[in-house]
Order: sequence, then C-alpha cells, then structure tokens
Amino acid sequence: MLIPVLLSGGVGSRLWPLSRELNPKQFLPLAGSLSLLEQTMERTKSLDAGAPIIVCNDEHRFTVAEQMRGIGTNPDAIILEPMGKNTAPAVAVAALQAIKQSPEGVMLVMPADHVVRDVPAFSAAVAAGMTEAQQGRLVTFGIVPESPETGYGYIRRNAEVSPGNYAIAEFVEKPSLEIAQQYVDSGDYYWNSGMFLMGAQTYLDELQVLAPAMLSAAKAAFDAANDDLDFVRLGAEEFSRCPSDSIDYAVMEKTEQGVVVPLSCGWSDVGAWSSLWEVGDKDTSGNVMVGDTLLHNTENSYVHSNSRLVTTVGVDNIVVVETPDAVLVADKDQVQDVKAIVNSLKAAD
Ligand code: GDD
Ligand code: MG
Repeated sequence: MLIPVLLSGGVGSRLWPLSRELNPKQFLPLAGSLSLLEQTMERTKSLDAGAPIIVCNDEHRFTVAEQMRGIGTNPDAIILEPMGKNTAPAVAVAALQAIKQSPEGVMLVMPADHVVRDVPAFSAAVAAGMTEAQQGRLVTFGIVPESPETGYGYIRRNAEVSPGNYAIAEFVEKPSLEIAQQYVDSGDYYWNSGMFLMGAQTYLDELQVLAPAMLSAAKAAFDAANDDLDFVRLGAEEFSRCPSDSIDYAVMEKTEQGVVVPLSCGWSDVGAWSSLWEVGDKDTSGNVMVGDTLLHNTENSYVHSNSRLVTTVGVDNIVVVETPDAVLVADKDQVQDVKAIVNSLKAAD
C-alpha cells in the first residue's frame, strides 16, 4: 500500500513578510487558491493511496488539522514534533506509524512546501518508482535541471538499473554557481527534489545500520507518544535526545539501495520570492500580480498585495510584497537575502 507522508516542518524565512514562524509558507495559498500543504495532499489523490501521515511541529497542529478537514482528507495520523530534528528522524517516526497501518507499506515522502505544475508527470514517476521501492530500493526523484540553481542539492546518476531508472553515484548539497553550471551541462545530474519512495520497513532497516542511535531515539519518542484523536504527540524528552540530520546525509548518501527516478514536472521548492515569480502566470510584460495591484511601465516583477492597493510605475525586475504590518521591496535577483532582514528583526526582538 502507498502511504503519503507529508513533511511540514519548515519556517520559510525567505518568504517574509508573508511567511511567519506561526504561519509558515506551507500553510499559505502562495500559488493558487489552496495552500502548498493542501496542494501537496491533492496531488496524491489520483494515486491509489492509503490515509496520509503528516509530520509537523506541535505549534502547527490545528492549522494542519483544519486544512486537511477543509479538503476532505482524513489523515491516519498527524505526528507532532516537540522540536525540529531535520528530515531523517521525521521520516523515521512516520515509518513507525506507517507499519502500523500496513507492514508492507511504501511511503511517498513529500515536503509540504513544493509546487508541482504537471501532476500527471509526477504520478507517472511515482508509478515508475513503485516497482523499485517494492523490491527494497530507496527511490529518490531527481528533477531534470533547467538552470544552475545553487539552492538545491544535486544527484549524479550512475548505471541504469531498469529502463529509465538509475543507480546513484553521489549527492552534492548546494554547490557553487560554477560547479552547478558544469553539472547542468554534463547531463548526468539531477536536482534533489527531497521527495522519496521507500518501504517503511526498508527505511527502518537502513537506519538500524546507518544511524542506530537516531532510530532508537525516534522509537523511544514514538513509543512514549500520547495519542489524542489524530494527533500523535511524540515523547518530548526522548525526541530531544534524537540526533538531528537530514535524510539525504543520514541515509541516501550512504545506502547501497538508492535509485534515482528522473522527473520533469514543473517542480519548484518555492524557497524565495523569485521562485514564485518563476512558477506564476505572467502578463505580457512578464509580471506576476497577486491581489489588488495596478502596474504601469513595469516589467518582470512580482507584486503581491495582501490588504491594500499596491501600484508601481517605471520599475523592472523587482519584488513587492505588502502585508498589514510590513512591506518588502527588493531587487528580484537579491531576494535570497530576505533572510538577513528576518535575522536582524529576530536580533532586535
Ligand atoms: N516535519 C519536519 N521536521 N519537516 C522538516 C524538518 C523537521 O525537523 N526539517 C525540514 N523539514 C521539511 C521542510 O518543511 C522542508 O519542506 C523539507 O523538509 C526540506 O527541508 P529544507 O530545510 O527546506 O531543506 P532545503 O530546501 O535547504 O534542502 C533540501 O531540499 C531541497 C529541495 O527542496 C535538500 O534535500 C536539497 O538537497 C534539496 O534540493
Ligand atoms: Mg526547502
């Protein structure tokens, strides 16, 4: 059985001022009328899948439950983390839950803050990976790169293991622009999408070998969990002792069982405002507008109004994001640095 696992732990600080700690980007309708979390869930509805498992911070439990109810989804569990320990432990507790639902269950792990424009292409890749996952492989989806993005990890493919699917030669996390360009030119690399397909038991067995301390802490936190309706609240003390690591570093880089399934599906991890411009519908001047806006002599810009009319005249390649208590105006090529503003604000708190 295919079990969707949604990771909803990020804070999305580069999407300030809309994304805030208490209401981060995955809960916002940033690319359409549904939130990114709701879109991630909807994307799995054409697959023949069981009830989803969502892993999120305790603080976000009501938002997650409410959004799931809103789209008519009844989760198997909403697992609550007392603190973030990165993705490897989050997937471990999801796997412990998944084997309760089905001992043979295959997890489709998806970060809850990505955009996928071509859902049929995504579903076809999941189907292609399913046979591999059922044979005990750990499948990662590799996005065919369109540009030398430096905000992503890269996967170098090795020999073909079955038609169109490849063994993994190496992972490289967030290379420099120069190296990323070489990777794109070579045709041997994919963007690491952060989406995986693997048997729940297969993942637990790999953790037992590759990160036994993490597995035992995750198990202890799961066994100490207190269940309250759909919520599974992990044991706080046990989970606090769990080592923190990403699934890429802890498992995928080390396992012998990794396979990469290539995927072209209009994917973006919408890390910064420029990616929302990239995935958005543009007018004839290349502008993406959200909310109440009026533009004149403006090109290639992203203008987002939340509570007031926002107008621009004679500007090019900028980002404007308006909210009731804060406004961002930025050069579209420098929006990665919005993080610096967030850090200054935190320091001033
Ligand atoms: N539940 C939970 N708990 N989720 C988490 C946690 C956690 O402690 N930490 C991260 N996540 C979720 C986030 O919500 C996010 O959607 C996803 O896991 C990946 O974490 P990020 O922190 O956003 O990682 P990144 O974007 O810097 O890099 C990773 O993702 C890229 C693709 O989006 C790497 O895997 C890169 O190699 C990859 O290209
Ligand atoms: Mg990310």
